[in-house]
Amino acid sequence: MINKIHTLGGYFHEYQKSLTNPDDFWEQQAECLYWRKRWEKVIDWNFEEPSINWYVNAKLNITESIFEKNLYTHGNNTAIIWEPNDPADEAITLTYRQLYEKVNQLANSLKILGVKKGDRVALYMPMVPELAIALLACARIGAIHSVIFAGFSAQSLSERINDAGAKVVITSDGGYRGSKVTPLKEIADEAMEHSPVVESVVVLKRTNTPVEMKAGRDIWWHDLMEGKDTECPAEEMDAEDPLFILYTSGSTGKPKGIVHTVAGYMVYTAYTFRNVFQYSRGDVYFCTADIGWITGHSYIVYGPLLNGAQTLMFEGTPTWPDAGRFWDIVDKHKVNQFYTAPTAIRSLLSLGNEYLAGKALDSLKVLGTVGEPINEDAWHWYHDHVGKNRCPIVDTWWQTETGGVLISPLAGITPTKPSFATLPLPGVLPVIVDNEGKELKGNSVEGNLCVKFPWPGMARTIWGDHERFRDTYFSTFKNYYFTGDGVRRDEDGYYRILGRVDDVINVSGHRLGTAEIENAINEHPLVNESAVVGYPHAIKGQGIYAFVVCPELSTGGEEGIRRSIKQGVTKIIGPIARPDLVQIVPGLPKTRSGKIMRRILRKIAEGDATNLGDISTLLDEDIVGQIIDSALVDVKH
Ligand code: WT7
Repeated sequence: MINKIHTLGGYFHEYQKSLTNPDDFWEQQAECLYWRKRWEKVIDWNFEEPSINWYVNAKLNITESIFEKNLYTHGNNTAIIWEPNDPADEAITLTYRQLYEKVNQLANSLKILGVKKGDRVALYMPMVPELAIALLACARIGAIHSVIFAGFSAQSLSERINDAGAKVVITSDGGYRGSKVTPLKEIADEAMEHSPVVESVVVLKRTNTPVEMKAGRDIWWHDLMEGKDTECPAEEMDAEDPLFILYTSGSTGKPKGIVHTVAGYMVYTAYTFRNVFQYSRGDVYFCTADIGWITGHSYIVYGPLLNGAQTLMFEGTPTWPDAGRFWDIVDKHKVNQFYTAPTAIRSLLSLGNEYLAGKALDSLKVLGTVGEPINEDAWHWYHDHVGKNRCPIVDTWWQTETGGVLISPLAGITPTKPSFATLPLPGVLPVIVDNEGKELKGNSVEGNLCVKFPWPGMARTIWGDHERFRDTYFSTFKNYYFTGDGVRRDEDGYYRILGRVDDVINVSGHRLGTAEIENAINEHPLVNESAVVGYPHAIKGQGIYAFVVCPELSTGGEEGIRRSIKQGVTKIIGPIARPDLVQIVPGLPKTRSGKIMRRILRKIAEGDATNLGDISTLLDEDIVGQIIDSALVDVKH
């Protein structure tokens, strides 16, 4: 494959080249893709506004780099392998040509529904091939897709539909996840009661769950696709036209619609996929993420397909029918690269090695992790028992906003160290700054992780709120993109991600804003106020600990209110945001100016109140002792 690094020396050489002459470097990475009109300039940027433009004035359609460029040479190669939820059901494969035809049929269908370039289409679907088809059909006609993870509630779905102004929603009657069926259409119907912007709803039949079809608005996927042309000319897009919106949580306010644009995202996901995973033609690559998150966008759909890869999509869960499911899939489809989240590894580890017994796992060449820091125990278990000591692990650090991996080993090339994301990819210039924004140079330093120079895959804005984009990422430290993560660079110059330094928590690799959860809790009629923090959780990485003030609670009613608070959050946001622990407290530790001192609550939730630091600014110091006394974890103090 072209533009693939093969040796450590090659990596250092490329890295140097990318710093000395980024224009040449990124021009070279773009050459192997399909452009209708070349760029006039590679990068045009500033981090003040911020204004970030890559491949200026180039014209293209990302689906032409997936299909037109390659159909004659590998049209009959497998593009997608789909493994259904139930192992007794048959897997499905789609070749590049078959995928192309389905994408075009859906693209033509969407046009009939009136979808035009720049319109937004919301996708609320299970992990079925039609979801990938829907992404690509939108891209084909220049519509902006906005995937909403199928675990989100009706309210979360509705908010995202409204924020993006989506006029079409694609969903399915239901979705299988292990032994459960989620009635997606029913949830979508509830969402649409509050989303009058939606004109049409396309419904895929998957579970045969009974649904109500609203006349004039709802149409079955199979009826819509019936007889549609398998050719659909690709819409010509500008390099900087939006490709998609993906919502993610921040430390404050409602979720942000992160916007990625066509050309830079294309070049970046294609380049990083082939280099990080060292993908070779014919390999079978399996990423266990859901397409509802950025990992699925970049490394199930776009990155692999832009490289002509075989990408495996899995509908189900790691533990159903039993905890050997991933390993059965690896053996069945002879998976070569396997990419998952530390939380999945920890949960499988905790269930014991018997689920690995009898699994060959000999096709595996590369293992990957993403989404949260991986602890050393999990890393070693993965390395020894899954990879049988012969597969390099790529611990890939990145974010929804970065579009693709920024810091990671290149599989088999960069020497790894457990729990280190190791070194930046070519073109990526990480810096560590202290709280005053001073850059900490050299090795053995720790601080806030920023990036100094743009890379093609970075987000361009927040949908409808560019000012929030600037405030969130470019104003904390002048002239830097601020990631929100803490990091250490060790004596070898290796990066170790320490976790978020803001009010964002990472629960099972899902990113949640504490403020968002608090808002949901505060909707409970008996709750006055609340504060949510993360605490160490053996499987989830972080669990959700809520401190809640309910002054009118009658004695003995605690258990009931805990339950109803948890149910409330599940209803408002979705099951992923359900608090693990709810402690009813007489008050929250606040400063005289009324600010909640989360630092103290975090320490308590971590079980260590031996050193609470300066609490003299607290309005009521006694509150802290009272909270500790009735804490739901053991607290040293
Ligand atoms: C946050 C981004 C990138 C796709 C999945 C998550 C954390 C991500 C790692 C890693 C330590 C990691 C960071 C980051 N994170 N990868 N390899 N090691 N932490 O995307 O939902 O946008 O969350 O996930 O804290 O900021 P996301």
